Amino acid sequence: RSLGLLILLVAGLALGAEPGQAGGHTLNIIDPQASAFNREVRGLLAWVMGFAALVFVVVIGALTYVTIRFRRTGKEAREPEQVHGNDRLEVIWTIIPTVIVLIIFGLTAQSMFKLDRPTPGAMVVEVRGWQFWWDFYYKDHGVRNSNELVLPVGKPVRFEVTGGDGSNYDVIHSFRITSMVGARDAIPGVVTHIEVTPEKVGTYYGQCVELCGASHANMRFRVKVVPQEEFDRWIEGAKAYQATTPTDPVLARGEELYKQQCAACHALKGVSQGLPQNPDLTFFGNRTTVGAGMWPNTPEYLERWIKNSPGMKPGIKMPAFPQLSDEEVKAIAAYLMSHKVEGLDFSNLEKF
Ligand code: CUA
Repeated sequence: RSLGLLILLVAGLALGAEPGQAGGHTLNIIDPQASAFNREVRGLLAWVMGFAALVFVVVIGALTYVTIRFRRTGKEAREPEQVHGNDRLEVIWTIIPTVIVLIIFGLTAQSMFKLDRPTPGAMVVEVRGWQFWWDFYYKDHGVRNSNELVLPVGKPVRFEVTGGDGSNYDVIHSFRITSMVGARDAIPGVVTHIEVTPEKVGTYYGQCVELCGASHANMRFRVKVVPQEEFDRWIEGAKAYQATTPTDPVLARGEELYKQQCAACHALKGVSQGLPQNPDLTFFGNRTTVGAGMWPNTPEYLERWIKNSPGMKPGIKMPAFPQLSDEEVKAIAAYLMSHKVEGLDFSNLEKF
């Protein structure tokens, strides 16, 4: 019976590991088309799985053999020949696993050094984990964005991953672009590195992969990999971005309310400084999600969020604003959505 269960378990794992789509989103964690990083890891995994399969077949084969060969057939129990204390056998089954582990160690070390080698001229993005969102700072361009990365296809990106900022308490997170590149811990006061060259245009899903509190599972982000021209338009637009005083009465009202209710905590280029532990709202109109990858960025969700974000995302530091009227919330949402780099078309990418 246990053999049957084991076979079921292995079959289940094998099926579960199949590259798959869930609700139209690629959840394949090591998509070989996404990056050379994935191909390297996949190659390594093939070796490990190969050895694991070998060990499995030998052990289960031997177990099956002795179970059948030495089963009780007659009425009397007959003990098979005992091999306890057989030196040669023990040396053999010590040496074989040692050799396997050494081979896996060698291959792993080789891959690690290869993947850790920095590429000269790679674009540097500083990644900062906060409870429960991500701050992305394009160091070479002086552009900051929250919970959303735009990256050019075919260009190496070097992530400098850290957490907190020294004067504000925060816990350890871990940065992972699920189907593109492996994880790096985001540790307050420590900078770790990971590098990848995205090879396929599309939307990628990112996730914090270190248990960090009530909304660990809700600490997500999106990565839009776009052609170089589109990236240039985005980054140049972001660099040149200037907030203007709105003339539309709803937006003007939104700005007034933003300054009263939001500006003390949030940064918005040209409008408010905010505090580093809260998401920068400058390019809100370009974002595809609300609440760090939780909800689609539509006016409906954004208004619900402004009114009662703690009810939508457990454990966050932003308070609810029950004192705001529907009209006021609508004005703030419209104002936030008006801040964006114009003329960008991400319609060729998979939507939220
Ligand atoms: Cu941050 Cu889990």
